[in-house]
Amino acid sequence: MVTKLEETVKKEFSANAEIEVYPCIDSTNSVAAQRVAEGCSQWHTVVALSQTKGCGRLGRSFFSPEGTGLYMSTVLYPDEKARALLTGMAAVAVCEALEKELRLSPKIKWVNDILVNEKKVCGILAKGIQKGSCCGVILGIGINLYRPEGGFPSEIADVAGYLFEEREEGLLERLCVSVLESLYKRYKDIGCDDAPEQYRKRCATVGKEVRVIPAGGGAQRLGRALYVDDSYHITVEYDTKERETLSSGEVSLRF
Ligand code: BTN
Repeated sequence: MVTKLEETVKKEFSANAEIEVYPCIDSTNSVAAQRVAEGCSQWHTVVALSQTKGCGRLGRSFFSPEGTGLYMSTVLYPDEKARALLTGMAAVAVCEALEKELRLSPKIKWVNDILVNEKKVCGILAKGIQKGSCCGVILGIGINLYRPEGGFPSEIADVAGYLFEEREEGLLERLCVSVLESLYKRYKDIGCDDAPEQYRKRCATVGKEVRVIPAGGGAQRLGRALYVDDSYHITVEYDTKERETLSSGEVSLRF
């Protein structure tokens, strides 16, 4: 499976990029970070079929067992303006890949969780990394394709989901190429395309009663999500009627 995935992506991904595929590593983000330190090119992609130390947002881990998902990290070198838009753009690109390749109708929970049937099926983590004067970004994407043996751990069992009950030959390869192609297309036009509008169309958070968990810790606040702007910042009106525009943190549905 590893060889087939590597060959398919090398053959079909338009960026003509370096692709590394592993059956199991600690984290594709960590290996990609090493590649940045070694001076790798843009679009260098590390894929794993399982991870022992998958990293999630806000210091959490990302459950990445064998035989259930696609875990991938791609190295990009965006300018400052593009860097700020990368996470939101990636959420749109993943949705478009799931729609086009798998005929699904995903939604986005701000800022970049992908939901299908109200369950999180994909997480995205963009991590900046400095190499001399150059700033790279590792875009890590984890997609839950199938139900893990024994189910999800209890902490995420209520919120996590997967895409298919039955295994399908070639699905992993198709999805990996489709996500990369979709990212590649969107990234070329980042900042001057309709990604923010496409994000808003799919955003499941706006209009909902929410609980805001600040990125740096601190007290949770209750409010209503009002809108997402072109920088993918979300404006929330708290129950106290104060408004705040957030660029990071977690906004969960309240009920
Ligand atoms: C989140 O939802 O908290 C973000 C999860 C990001 C997980 C992916 S899986 C591939 C890449 N490698 C990692 O260690 N994390 C990201």
